[in-house]
Amino acid sequence: GEGGHTEDFSFSFEGPFGTYDQAQLQRGLQVYTEVCSACHGLKFVPLRTLSAENGPGMPEDQVRAYAAQNYEVFDQEEDDYRAALPTDHFPANDTVGAPDLSLMAKARAGFHGPYGLGLNQLFNGIGGPEHIASILTGYTGEQRTQAGTTLYENHAFDGGWISMAPPLYGDDVTYADGTEATIEQESKDVAAFLMWTAEPKMMARKQAGFAGVLFLTVLSVLLYLTNKRIWKPIK
Ligand code: HEM
Repeated sequence: GEGGHTEDFSFSFEGPFGTYDQAQLQRGLQVYTEVCSACHGLKFVPLRTLSAENGPGMPEDQVRAYAAQNYEVFDQEEDDYRAALPTDHFPANDTVGAPDLSLMAKARAGFHGPYGLGLNQLFNGIGGPEHIASILTGYTGEQRTQAGTTLYENHAFDGGWISMAPPLYGDDVTYADGTEATIEQESKDVAAFLMWTAEPKMMARKQAGFAGVLFLTVLSVLLYLTNKRIWKPIK
């Protein structure tokens, strides 16, 4: 739907040369781990990818410690739960029916129109991470109960009422890098992290696209000169 209002937050990965900010992805991981993972899973994301250079870029021993300290997975062979390994995925989480967040940044559009032309998406991107950050900062404080479910007013959510209680209030985490944990900072950081989980190869894709454009530009010049030369005697 197009009901919610999306704020145009700016992100380091916007534009043809934009890149993920490693420190931001690590802060976003911290927010996900300490707040969101209570209700949401990331079942499509392998823990080992946290060491990806074009991603959070965590040292491998740190990834191993992170996996072991935060998650348990069911091991078919041992027929029991054990500490997670880098080779495991982040766990799913179906406890309260919250949607999996692995691909959420690509599943939602923040920008639309005008008039169904999609020009806003052409110039500003699809707006998935903006949508996520807007939801997290979009609560009004109003709530009501409908058919036994508590709904919270949120101007960024389609329909204006969401069943997710406000998960962030500011200072929900203490950032390891000393960044001040305002609600807007935490929201942008976790939205950036979720953009990375949804599109871990974005930087490689942009680099390949740039190489392609460069190659086609050079080829065009060469063909232009070749063409001139071929037709020279006839001119
Ligand atoms: C929905 C993100 C924490 C429960 C959602 C959605 C996003 C999201 C992006 C989908 C919104 C949409 O459909 O457009 C986050 C983030 C969190 C977080 C980034 C941490 C900062 C939590 C927590 C809980 C929770 C702690 C449970 C206490 C839910 C539920 C929904 C939901 C139940 C479905 C809401 C509905 O469709 O009405 N969340 N969430 N979330 N979340 Fe969270």
